[in-house]
Amino acid sequence: SIIAVIYGGRSAEREVSLQSGPLVIEGLKEKGYQVIGIDLYGCDGSLDPVTQLQSAEFDFAFIALHGGEGEDGRIQALLELLNKPYTGSSPLACGLAMDKILSKRYWHGIGIPTPAYLSFVKDADANLIESSMSYPVIVKPSREGSTIGINKAANRTELDNALLKALEYDSDILVEAFIDGPEFTIAIIDDEAYPVIGLKASAEHELYDYEAKYIANDTEYLLPSGLSDDDEILVKQLALDAYRSLGCSGWGRVDVMRDVEGKFWVLEVNTAPGMTSHSLVPMAANHLGVNYASLVEKIALEAWC
Ligand code: DAL
Ligand code: MG
Repeated sequence: SIIAVIYGGRSAEREVSLQSGPLVIEGLKEKGYQVIGIDLYGCDGSLDPVTQLQSAEFDFAFIALHGGEGEDGRIQALLELLNKPYTGSSPLACGLAMDKILSKRYWHGIGIPTPAYLSFVKDADANLIESSMSYPVIVKPSREGSTIGINKAANRTELDNALLKALEYDSDILVEAFIDGPEFTIAIIDDEAYPVIGLKASAEHELYDYEAKYIANDTEYLLPSGLSDDDEILVKQLALDAYRSLGCSGWGRVDVMRDVEGKFWVLEVNTAPGMTSHSLVPMAANHLGVNYASLVEKIALEAWC
């Protein structure tokens, strides 16, 4: 059988996917699989994904797309219509997880701790934000990844700017209470939480942002996380709860903050996490002795066996 690694795409995270895709292809080839790569919207971008996927010959798909229609369930739904098994979560779970506002509404309803927030469609009300939240706040486009369009605001001018920047990426805007603590991330493969990674962007980067993620070499990754054994167990369970509650399956990665009092807050679930050389899921797997090729094989087999 032939595996298609689908990557590229036209979201703001295309560049990240162009790094993930070829590595996934290489890893699966190393394990002896017959693999083709499909760069969605690649070449001159004239082919639509339906045509691209329909005309390619393959039996299973490994989704190495990030953001937009590659992570929000639309490509997953197309693969279902084409009767091709694929890695990762269902269209519905992807859609929920990609939308930070919907995820948070869901978690609020079932008691999974997530930072307080306000949400807006297009017109954000800065007066309402100022009257019901205190600075600093984090302003995010609801459906983006890799920290694109996300800014911290500590006053009205910064808030106005942050709202405008977020609106460049999405009509749905999330304004979230800032948790002043370190960030942690938990990879989940086949319903198992992998070792927690602590993230420390250098002083120049206020957030673990796009540059800290893919460009800077001074981002510190704490693995082991430095958490106590009890906290490591607690946050892994919280990550699994958040992931399962949205109906996610196969694999993913949950991002969490820890406040100064030591309480954990779930930020989001990524259903098609980065698989670049800087990425966190391969890092956590490596810590368990699972190399990159074995990791992609594990994700693949989970989807098709
Ligand atoms: N959104 C990026 C690819 C990640 O979560 O790793
Ligand atoms: Mg994300």
